[in-house]
Amino acid sequence: MQWGIRRCLGLLTVIGALGLVSTNAQEREEKQGDAAKPATVIIKIVSDAKLTIDKEATYQTGSTRKFNTPPLKPGVRYYYDAVAVWEPNNYTKITRKRRIYVEAGKQVEVDLTKEDPNIKDDIVVRYVPTPMPVVEAMLKLADVKEGDVVYDLGCGDGRIPITAVAKFKAKRGVGVDIDPERIKDSNENAKKEKVEHLVEFRQEDVLKIKDLNDASVVTLYMGDDLNRQLRPTLEKLKPGSRIVSHRFLIGDWKPDRTEELEVNGVKFKLHLWVIKGQ
Ligand SMILES: C[S@@+](CC[C@H](N)C(=O)[O-])C[C@H]1O[C@@H](n2cnc3c(N)ncnc32)[C@H](O)[C@@H]1O
Repeated sequence: MQWGIRRCLGLLTVIGALGLVSTNAQEREEKQGDAAKPATVIIKIVSDAKLTIDKEATYQTGSTRKFNTPPLKPGVRYYYDAVAVWEPNNYTKITRKRRIYVEAGKQVEVDLTKEDPNIKDDIVVRYVPTPMPVVEAMLKLADVKEGDVVYDLGCGDGRIPITAVAKFKAKRGVGVDIDPERIKDSNENAKKEKVEHLVEFRQEDVLKIKDLNDASVVTLYMGDDLNRQLRPTLEKLKPGSRIVSHRFLIGDWKPDRTEELEVNGVKFKLHLWVIKGQ
């Protein structure tokens, strides 16, 4: 076990710190006094996450993983690029990246259970459509009416923006999805419903959206992690705007109302937030 890890990190050193490790004989002689020593890296991580270091798979499991580097030259700072990937539920895949700096003879502890504020997690949620009766209940809970501009973040086949303009008389519907296939489906569905002039579908990562300037209603069916990441953008919505999320909460932001409904014997939960005035 230990050998595998050492070998793995050994390989990674060569890749990650290329050019930093000198194999030059003359230099080795000059530095005879400085014995090379390994560093130790202790990584706290979601227990079922897969971990790669400098693109090489590692094989330890569990919530604390310990690695030794090969002997390193004293006084030089090396780094490894760690990537943890896990699926907190069967909808969501999270990728978290961290650069780990090490020095000969030292131990470093890294907490990959927490997001680095400077390197946003990459979160992808699988496509699962909201059943149509639930779409209508979401738009009703958001009180969508004439004049509203309705955004669905992670819009799937476009059913929410399309229903908002076709049935609830919203002024405009906007759908954003990371998957080009979903955008294609959305545009086709808008044509079928003859509302293509009232909707717009964009292929984009919702986490890259800086603000939703013209939205008065935002709908979500994205999972706890993506919702939490979206909170800073959602908080910037203009006063009176409504957010409705199918099933998932937005971190510890308390909803103004939560509703339950049953469709064909299956229970659904919807949450509403109303942006308060200044
Ligand atoms: C659970 S489905 C919801 C679809 C639709 N909103 C509905 O309620 O029927 C989530 C959708 O979000 C999209 N998605 C996942 N991660 C995304 C991201 N980072 N940015 C944009 N879209 C994303 C997926 O491609 C998928 O279509």
